[in-house]
Amino acid sequence: MELYDAMRTTFSARDFTADPVSDEVLGRILDNARFAPSGGNRQGWHVIVVRDPAMRAALGPLIEPACKRYLAEVKAGANPWNTVEPADIGQADVDAVTVPPGFIDRLVHAPLVLLVTVDLSVVASMDQHLERIGVISGASIYPFVWNILLAARNEGLGGTLTTFLVAEEAKAKTLFGIPQNHALAAMLPIGKPVKQLTRLRRHPVSAFATVDAFDGNAFGG
Ligand SMILES: Cc1cc2nc3c(=O)[nH]c(=O)nc-3n(C[C@H](O)[C@H](O)[C@H](O)COP(=O)(O)O)c2cc1C
Repeated sequence: MELYDAMRTTFSARDFTADPVSDEVLGRILDNARFAPSGGNRQGWHVIVVRDPAMRAALGPLIEPACKRYLAEVKAGANPWNTVEPADIGQADVDAVTVPPGFIDRLVHAPLVLLVTVDLSVVASMDQHLERIGVISGASIYPFVWNILLAARNEGLGGTLTTFLVAEEAKAKTLFGIPQNHALAAMLPIGKPVKQLTRLRRHPVSAFATVDAFDGNAFGG
C-alpha cells in the first residue's frame, strides 16, 4: 500500500472480525517494524505475543481502573491523565463510571494482542534533568510501536496503540515475567477491523506549524 495512504488511514481499530492473524503475517509485520529508529540505535524493544486465553482474561481487570479514570476525567471536562493540569476528581467519581460493556473484552480478546516493552537500561533520556514530565524516553520505543501499526495497516489489518495497562505496570510485569529494567510501553490489540475508517480527524498543518517562532506566521506548505 502507498505510504501516504497508510499514514492517512491508520486509525485506532478496536472492533475486529474473528479472522485470525497468522504467524506469517505477524512475522512480516515485526520484521519490517524493526527498522524503526531508537536513541543510539540501541533497539531496546521486546514484544510479547499474548496467546494464553487465561493471560488475555487477566489483562481486563488490570486495564479497567485506568480506563475508568480516563472516562471520569473526560466527564469532568479535563484532559485525562494530564500532569500539567491534573483533573480535580476523586475516587468516588472514578467508581461512578462504567466502562461501555464489551469495550475491554474486545481489546484483550482481539485476534492478536502484543505487549511492547522497552529496556530502560539502554534508553538515552536526554530530558532527565528537566523539571517536567519526561518525553524523550518514549521516543526510543514509539516509532517501533507505530511501525507495527503501519505495517498491520499494510497487511489489511488494524489495531490501537493502548497505554491504559501501563497504569498497572507492576502487576502486568509480574503476570508476564517482564524484567525490572523494562518499561511497559503499549498493549496492541490487532486484527481485521470490522470497518475500515478512511477519514481521520486531525488538525490542518496551518494549525500547528509556524515559521521562525512558536507564535510566528502559520507555515503555509
Ligand atoms: C500515546 C497514546 C496512548 C493511547 N492510549 C490509548 C488507550 O490506552 N486506550 C485506547 O483505547 N486508545 C488509546 N490511544 C488511541 C487514541 O485514543 C487515538 O489514537 C485517538 O483517539 C485518535 O483516534 P484515531 O486514531 O482513530 O483517529 C492512544 C494513542 C496514543 C498515541
